[in-house]
Order: sequence, then C-alpha cells, then structure tokens
Amino acid sequence: MIEDIRATTSEAERLVDAASTLDELARVDREVLGKGSALTGFKRQMGGLEPDARREVGAALNEARAALEAAVAARRAALAATAQREQAEAERLDLTEVRAGRDAGHLHLVTQAIEELEDVFVGLGFTVAEGPEVEDDWHNFTALNFGEYHPARDMQDTFFVGLGGDREVVMRTHTSPVQIRVMEEQAPPIYSVMPGRVYRNEATDATHLAVFHQLECLVVDRGITFGHLAGTIDRFTKAYFGPGWTSRLRPSYFPFTEPSAEFDLQRPDGTWLELGGCGMVHPNVLANCGIDPEEFSGFAFGFGLDRLAATRHGVTDLRELASTDIRFLEQF
Ligand code: PHE
Repeated sequence: MIEDIRATTSEAERLVDAASTLDELARVDREVLGKGSALTGFKRQMGGLEPDARREVGAALNEARAALEAAVAARRAALAATAQREQAEAERLDLTEVRAGRDAGHLHLVTQAIEELEDVFVGLGFTVAEGPEVEDDWHNFTALNFGEYHPARDMQDTFFVGLGGDREVVMRTHTSPVQIRVMEEQAPPIYSVMPGRVYRNEATDATHLAVFHQLECLVVDRGITFGHLAGTIDRFTKAYFGPGWTSRLRPSYFPFTEPSAEFDLQRPDGTWLELGGCGMVHPNVLANCGIDPEEFSGFAFGFGLDRLAATRHGVTDLRELASTDIRFLEQF
C-alpha cells in the first residue's frame, strides 16, 4: 500500500505541474486532494490494517498530502506570476514622448473643440482673444456691472487668491472678463471670441467640474440687435454639430447683459442640452470700457466647452476629461 501511495503521489504531482492555468490547477487540486481522491481512498482502507501498518500508512499519507499541498501552492504562485506578467504586457502603455517615425500623441478632446470652434468663428469673420486666468475684481465682476453687494456675485462660486487686498484677486469664474479687456483695448467694431479655462469653487460630479473651459463671444458695433445674437448662436451650433441641430433662448438674468437669456441646443432626436448664457451687452458695461452706449450696441454669449465636447463624443461623465488615462484619451 505504501508503494501505491508513493506512485499515486508522484502521478498527482505530475498533474499539478502540468496544470497550465489557475482554473485547471483548481480542478487538479480537487481531484488529487479532495474527498473523491485516491489519497482519501487509502485513508478509508486504513481501518482494516494492523496497528503497526496503520501507523506507517498514516505517516505516509500525511507526508503525501503535505507534499501535494506544497506542490499545488508552488504551482499556484508560478501561474499567478505568469498571469500578472501577461496582463501587464497586454496593458503595457508606451509613455515615451517622442518616437522616431511616429506621431507623438494628439491634442486633448477639449483643445480639439476649442480649435474647431475657433475655425468656425474665424470663418464668420471673428478674431480670437485671450486673457489671464488670475483676474482682478474689476474685470471679473465690477466692470461687468456686478454691484458691490449685488446678490449676483453669489451666482459664481469664487476662488479668491491671497494677493492684493481682501477679495481683490480671483481665479476668473468665467470668460466674460476677457470682454472687458478687449473693449478696454480696442474700439468698436469688435467681433471676437475668447476661449479659456475658468474656475468655480464647486464639488465636482458627472456634470460639474471645478476647473473647466468656456468660450465667450462678443460683438460690439452700430445697430447690433438681439436678432444678430440669436442668428450667430444658431449658425455656430449648426457649424459645430451639423445641420440637424437647432437652438433656443429662454429669458434669464446676468448683470452684464440686458435683456439676458440662457440658450439651449436641440439635438436631432429632439432632446435639449442647456449650454450657456447670453444677452445684449449692458449699457453700463459699454460705458465702463469707454464705449458710448448711445452710439454702439452689442451682444455677448458664453458657454461651457467641456459639456459641448463631451456631448459630441458621447462622454457621459465630465470628470473623464480631466483623466490622464491614456486608454480614455487615445479614443479621440
Ligand atoms: N459669463 C456667464 C456665465 O459664466 C455666461 C454669459 C456670457 C452670459 C456672456 C451672458 C453673456 O455664466
């Protein structure tokens, strides 16, 4: 019987070593050590043996079981290491920046959206302007007709920067301060778009980011009407998304426009995407920038680029746009 146990054990060890996957090993484990195994069969036969022989067989069985358990554990460790190596190999990312003869990555989804929109607006005769992300209170609020104690200041959850006087320097909460900079520097006619990064002290979720991007559009000229505003919004909507898309305006309030509206885009399937705000530039804002509101009028609109780009590409969680996972980024 001792001979049989040895033979069974070495055959079992051969099976263990031959297992080529963790699943197969689990099966072999049950087969050679489980209730229905040959080892368990020998144990059942021990009852009929003389005490001396029984002791010997018992010792041999314990030894065999210990040896097999060790063999299974060693094989499991080896297979797990191989599986991990194979997974790492399969998911391997090449993070070298420049490789001879190959493109070194591509622009981020939001940057692509900015460039495409700039092309649309440049095609309509607009210029592109930029401004600083760290702004002063004048450009971000006061010149935009936010009264000092006006509740509208609370519409924007502001990050204040510890520079200058109390609450004097902010991370810009919107791209509208760039309107002010353009009007301060340049006399009408003004036809400009102003893309850029903006900051709001908000909790992030699938539809809100604390750091995101807007595009602002400003027109100041003689005889500009609300019709020009609505027409321009509709024109860029169709140019960016396609002819099946339309837009609508809903009455709203912003301190720097009067009248003001929110604008939504309608997808070809009839559903709506709330996108941004707009209106006729408030006469106080023109005056703050040295432009005579009796002579000139203008419109402005601004909207979130991240939401726009996400919608076009079927991204349902805006937080993905801040992800550094190449597997996400490579899709666009
Ligand atoms: N700046 C506004 C916002 O961020 C949007 C807006 C821009 C509204 C221009 C009117 C005119 O909510």
